[in-house]
Amino acid sequence: MLTAERDTPHDASPAAWKALPAAQQPDWPDPGALDRVTKELATLPPLVVASESRDLLAALGRVADGEAFLLQAGDCAESFDSFSAESVKRRLQVILQMAVVLTYSSGVPTVKIGRIAGQFAKPRSSGTETVDGVTLPSFRGHIVNGDAFTEEARVPDPGRLLQAYHQSSSTLNLLRSLTRGGFSDLAEVHAWNQDFVTATPQGQQYKALADEIGRALRFMTACGVDTGSLPTLHQTDFFTSHEALLLPYEEALTRRDPMSGDLYATSAHMIWIGERTRQLDGAHVAYFASVANPIGCKVGPTATPEEVLALCEALNPDRVPGRLTLISRMGAAKIEEGLKPLLAAVRDAGHPVVWACDPMHGNTFTSDSGHKTRRVDDILDEIAGFFRAHAAEGTWAGGVHVELTSDDVTECLGGSHEILDSDLDTRYETVCDPRLNGRQSLDLAFRVAEALRARS
Ligand code: PEP
Ligand code: CO
Repeated sequence: MLTAERDTPHDASPAAWKALPAAQQPDWPDPGALDRVTKELATLPPLVVASESRDLLAALGRVADGEAFLLQAGDCAESFDSFSAESVKRRLQVILQMAVVLTYSSGVPTVKIGRIAGQFAKPRSSGTETVDGVTLPSFRGHIVNGDAFTEEARVPDPGRLLQAYHQSSSTLNLLRSLTRGGFSDLAEVHAWNQDFVTATPQGQQYKALADEIGRALRFMTACGVDTGSLPTLHQTDFFTSHEALLLPYEEALTRRDPMSGDLYATSAHMIWIGERTRQLDGAHVAYFASVANPIGCKVGPTATPEEVLALCEALNPDRVPGRLTLISRMGAAKIEEGLKPLLAAVRDAGHPVVWACDPMHGNTFTSDSGHKTRRVDDILDEIAGFFRAHAAEGTWAGGVHVELTSDDVTECLGGSHEILDSDLDTRYETVCDPRLNGRQSLDLAFRVAEALRARS
């Protein structure tokens, strides 16, 4: 057993990972430059503070206990190029809209976490990419290199770590303002519907739900409830998360919380380990074991019950509810039978995890037109299989983890506004994986809400 796995956050070192093999790290051409950047990052303010991560831990604890639902959503990879206040606002808007559908339709509180304000680094299935006989290093996210297919763009540049930090900081700043009042006020629920969605059946269904919420608020006021004085109606809790892939960046932003004495990743409220970096004896598991944040771990179709139990022991030895979210990403065809033995093993061992369903990453393929895409039907099927597996094992289907944008992009096939392979070229804008557009995201929220209602 590795010492790093056994350390509690109280006596751990944020550098414990250094002695272990770290998968999916870029080949930095100038280690001295990386060192200078991480030293600078270590002097910069934390992006989030420990008490906020503890609030999220408590909220996720309620999900683990079967009293709330998790919606974790956002970009596959945030971009340095398409960053704007408007894009942050729209991404928040679609998540608020989905959350209100989920909460209103199911009566279960929704914990909202964005894949935002730090979701930059990407693991790749191959270290190189070949186009027309030319082979270059793969694009690893804007925190590492550029997406253009040129030799120059693909060189890992540590200066990008600082740019990612500053973009995350401005994104968080805006998110904090938008969620503290005004925009996220429940009275604004109609305004979250976007123009291109309004006329569609989902838009109309959403409008009807928003009308009901408006009526309920007016009813409360008429009954003498001073709705103006209830902060929960005017503000919302919104948390940030990303895959903590680049360990030098994460280590530089790891700080000891003076209140608890524990180490916290301050790059986001929650961080997760990807499917390609969850090796039990690897650097990522050791780093995650050293911090006290709520954390996630992806679980793909090859994961065995023994492996998953070992991950639970390494990452949550104290069995704190809400500390560990296991995010299954098996593919629509494998989810039901693949997930059941894992649910049974974790349940029987008494580990209080949150189970979330990522219906995106097991359903990616290259279409005839050469686009990396996903079918909305496969995404919905995987979610349905996830709910069936939980019903069979008597466990709580705790949440969904999805890649989306509020924009009217054409990246995923199908949906009620049928997007065909020949349409993909129209607005294919992602810098990494294909995302659901605003309409497909709302559609998904209504479908998940139905599944939530059906189980209660
Ligand atoms: C992701 O979430 O973007 C991702 C790369 O997922 P996974 O690690 O499950 O492949
Ligand atoms: Co992705």
